[in-house]
Amino acid sequence: MANGERVAIIGAGPSGMAQLRAFEAAARAGAEIPEIVCFEKQADWGGQWNYTWRTGLDEFGEPVHSSMYRNLWSNGPKEALEFADYSFDEHFARPISSYPPRPVLWDYIAGRLKKADVREFIRFRTIVRWVEYDAEREIFTLTIEDLPTGETTTEEFGRVVVATGHFSFPNVPDLPGIETFEGQVTHAHDFRGAEALKDRDVLVIGSSYSAEDIGSQAYKMGARSVTASYRSAPMGYDWPEGFEERPLVERFERDTVHFVDGTSKRVDAVILCTGYLHKYPFLPGDLALSSPNNVYPEGLYRGVVWQRNPRLAYLGAQDQWFTFNMFDTQAWYVRDLIMGRADLPDERERAASIAEWRARFEKIASDADEIRFQADYVRDLLEQTDYPEFDLDRVVEIFLAWKRDKKADIMGYRDRVYRSVMTGTLSAEHHTPWIQELDDSLERYLAEKPGESPRNAPSAAV
Ligand SMILES: Cc1cc2nc3c(=O)[nH]c(=O)nc-3n(C[C@H](O)[C@H](O)[C@H](O)COP(=O)(O)OP(=O)(O)OC[C@H]3O[C@@H](n4cnc5c(N)ncnc54)[C@H](O)[C@@H]3O)c2cc1C
Ligand SMILES: NC(=O)c1ccc[n+]([C@@H]2O[C@H](COP(=O)([O-])OP(=O)(O)OC[C@H]3O[C@@H](n4cnc5c(N)ncnc54)[C@H](OP(=O)(O)O)[C@@H]3O)[C@@H](O)[C@H]2O)c1
Repeated sequence: MANGERVAIIGAGPSGMAQLRAFEAAARAGAEIPEIVCFEKQADWGGQWNYTWRTGLDEFGEPVHSSMYRNLWSNGPKEALEFADYSFDEHFARPISSYPPRPVLWDYIAGRLKKADVREFIRFRTIVRWVEYDAEREIFTLTIEDLPTGETTTEEFGRVVVATGHFSFPNVPDLPGIETFEGQVTHAHDFRGAEALKDRDVLVIGSSYSAEDIGSQAYKMGARSVTASYRSAPMGYDWPEGFEERPLVERFERDTVHFVDGTSKRVDAVILCTGYLHKYPFLPGDLALSSPNNVYPEGLYRGVVWQRNPRLAYLGAQDQWFTFNMFDTQAWYVRDLIMGRADLPDERERAASIAEWRARFEKIASDADEIRFQADYVRDLLEQTDYPEFDLDRVVEIFLAWKRDKKADIMGYRDRVYRSVMTGTLSAEHHTPWIQELDDSLERYLAEKPGESPRNAPSAAV
């Protein structure tokens, strides 16, 4: 592919940042790279990890992107997401614990790019409004708005990489009688902290990560009771007293919720932890991915190349066991396709590959299967590029240990430590057990003991 071609990256979250890093790594190694422009609607990078207190619409009237909240800690061991080309040891210069809070991971993601000097490629507070493809010219025209001024312009690109995430547009089911509920109803997307749930009876709906963690936050902050309502299957942890699981809601009636097993409960607050929609309001239907949240969405060759138009790529479109290092392997592969370092098979071969992976995907029968499936997917990408190799079997073992540790102690698993696959370093124990830790700041986290000032505290990312 001609290196004179312009490449648009939409979004500067971990996936878009991985794409920037991939090009920068090639440039650093002496390659000529195409012109890159990354559009980011927020004022800073980090995507979901860029916390905002806002909910609903932002200061420009745009939907708020991040679904993260105060006191969000990594829900998987950091050893499973570590970059192969930028270790936690390199960033923090000492071992840290395995489940860092949000600001610590944000600092780590940003640290890699600060070193790479790619911020100049990002146009912040700039939203992509629309993408149009001209098949004859093989050119995308992007309509872009500078949010502070409202000025709209168009620009042409030969390639587009969509890195806008898929955990920002809430899936909000209409539950019978919910309009009569007298307490507060929110979706997880708008949840910013559980402090106000102290002494309240809380209902979370869903049985995945948001239900598990927001329910746990409510418990941690002193909710009187937490009830989690599942549709398919209970989470099945050994919950502490005051935390229970019940089946699907049959109906709400003023302050009471009735479940399909005939039981009922009075609750003060309802949090819909019912997941998110793949939504790409800036793409026409023939370019927009439409899929449930799963590990092999239809229509993407090698999980990244849009089959109907291979000049368009998606990063991070899968449901995620692997995160940061998976985004890296995707970004390196997309870079190599764009730079002509990797050959794109023809349409039939791509369709056969998608069908093969989808057939394997359909046979997944357990979480362990799904983790191994995603490891194999990452391995396949890893083999295509010069992204530093790492031991994926070891990462799978870490995921399986994580699952066992959660099963053994759902409120204590974040105190466990694992060994880095990249450097062999064993994580340090955090100074305060997760259940007692109410301060998620970088400073507090890096302090050797509560109350002490941090050692080797990296500066904030910007
Ligand atoms: C509540 C929550 C907790 C999570 N916790 C963890 C965790 O503990 N560990 C973990 O590994 N993963 C976690 N994740 C998964 C998370 O999705 C990934 O870690 C990661 O943030 C995905 O990166 P991304 O770049 O693909 O998408 P995002 O992080 O969503 O970033 C997308 C970016 O695109 C920008 N954007 C969107 N639309 C436009 C547009 N039209 N124009 C310009 N810019 C646009 C957004 O502003 C955003 O910056 C969590 C997700 C959620 C929702
Ligand atoms: N760091 C953290 O601690 C943390 C915290 C929160 C979220 N996250 C991340 O955020 C991402 C999204 O997780 P998520 O839990 O929000 O979404 P998710 O994994 O897609 O799960 C959605 C849940 O909603 C349920 N659901 C959907 N529609 C429903 C309905 N009509 N009635 C009842 N239940 C319904 C689903 O039930 P079925 O199983 O029946 O489909 C499922 O349990 C994940 O990547 C996760 O790791 C991380």
